[in-house]
Order: sequence, then structure tokens, then C-alpha cells
Amino acid sequence: MADKDSIKETHNYYLDIPMKSEPFILRGSNSLDWGMKNRLLNIFCPDTGRTVMLAVDHGYFLGPTTGLERMDVTIVPLLPYADTLMCTRGILRSIIPPTFTKGVVLRSSGGPSILKELSNEEIAVDIEDAIRLNVAALAVQVFVGGEYETKSIHNMTRLVDVGNRYGIPVLGVTAVGKELVRDAKYMRLATRICAELGASYVKTYYVADGFETVTASCPVPIVIAGGKKLQELDALRMAYDAVQQGAAGVDMGRNVFQSEAPSAIIQALRKVVHENMAPEEAHDLYLTLKKEKK
Ligand code: 5RP
Repeated sequence: MADKDSIKETHNYYLDIPMKSEPFILRGSNSLDWGMKNRLLNIFCPDTGRTVMLAVDHGYFLGPTTGLERMDVTIVPLLPYADTLMCTRGILRSIIPPTFTKGVVLRSSGGPSILKELSNEEIAVDIEDAIRLNVAALAVQVFVGGEYETKSIHNMTRLVDVGNRYGIPVLGVTAVGKELVRDAKYMRLATRICAELGASYVKTYYVADGFETVTASCPVPIVIAGGKKLQELDALRMAYDAVQQGAAGVDMGRNVFQSEAPSAIIQALRKVVHENMAPEEAHDLYLTLKKEKK
């Protein structure tokens, strides 16, 4: 029991120090609850408001694609350089060590393989399992203009509802079907629909012409996917241009794990995203790290 005699009667209420009420670092996120904000800061760096997400969820429709055949060998060594990992629950449980304490963005939609109509997805995880896995966000594919557009948007809104119930943000992933044009007009439409319908942040592709109008018209943070493997300098340029034009970071897969030096490229990407390093300088760093096999 506490010793009553030692209780001091002097109190300091710091009356001269006004209590702080600081705006949250991520756009459009001020009104979110504490748990949601806390989880978002397990994805976005609290100092920069940006993220380098490592996307390795491709197997959910592609199977063991190039670079992801042995994720224990190729992906686990990259974990120290990622702010967040985007993966399926199967890979999380089977390959990713629980010592990885940064954010996990869980692939939460799926169904069709590349052999079928990709937009015909369902929700592929129960919220209880997502909570059990302690994930930072749920990722769902949204096929605006695709054959199953409404169904995929409905998948997202259902995940937003359960995510809101438990304080788990939803990442809306805009998937552009082969028949659609990847331009700023389409990206504005797709990203805005995701944000309007409740996604906490949105993933899209970078477009060289008018990307700043995509970020300007989306009220929540945008991250870019890498897309097909590019030359390393081009991937760094794309990341640089995207963040300079308002993106809050990258969610890159193939441009990292299909690189000749994945750990060197992800370290160079970090410099571009978090420190605004020019792409040419980041490329020099990539070449140095690659030579040193770091
Ligand atoms: C798969 C995805 C991927 O995570 C996304 O495409 C990012 O990977 P990449 O940089 O290889 O495009 O959402 O549907």
C-alpha cells in the first residue's frame, strides 16, 4: 500500500504552457481516431509523412513470379529497409519473421488468377484474422472501369466499414485493366472514387503528364506502384517526380525485387522519398551499394 505520509501536496499545472493541439501529418486524416492514426504512422514515417512500402503480394494472382520464388531468400533481407510490407496473410505467416515490427499492409482481396477475369475479386480475409495478425492496414483492389467495377468498389466499402469499426485503415489500390488508358484523367477518377468512398489512402500509377492534378484532387495520401521493371535510374526518377508532385511515397515491388541489387535500390529509393535526393545522386548511391554488395 502507498505510504500516505509521503504524498506531496504541491502540484505543478504548468499554467504558463498552453496545451498543444497539433495537426496530423497526413493529409485528410485529421478527423481519424487515435488507433487509425497510430496505425497509419506504422506505414508513413512520422518525420516525413512519406513511406517506402515494399509490395510483395503479387503471388495472390500471379503465383511465384520472378523475384518472389523464394521470398525467405529474396525478401526477408530487404525488410530492414522498408517502412512497411504489403503482402498476403499466407506469406506473412509462413515467411515473415514476427520480429518485423513495422507496419504490415495486408492484401485483403483476391479470387481470380491471371487465367481469369482479374476484376472479379472478393474480400479474401476476415477482419478477426487481420486483427490477429496485428496489421496496419487492409489493401483492396478497385477496378474502376473494369468488368466487375461495382463489386470491387463494394469490396472496398465493406472493408472500410469493418476497418472503421476496429481502427484499421484501408488502402484502395487502383487497378488499371489492359483495355483502359493509364492517364491523369483516369487516375483522377479512380483515386477520387477510392477517397470519396472511405479509403484512408490510395495507391495508383505515376503518369508523366498531369500527375500533380491526381494528387491535388485526391483528399487523402497517394502512393505510387512501380509497375513493370524499369532501369534503376528511371525507377528513381519516377519516384522522385511522384513525391515532388505530391505523392506520399511509393509502394514498389518489381522495381525492387527484380533489380540486380534489390537492397541497393531500396536504400536509394529511401533517400529519394524521405530526403528528396535527386535521382542521379541516388543512382550513384545505388551503384556504390551494389558494388559493395550492401
Ligand atoms: C498487385 C499489387 C502490387 O502490390 C502493385 O502492383 C505494386 O507492385 P509493382 O511495383 O510491382 O507494380 O497491388 O496487384
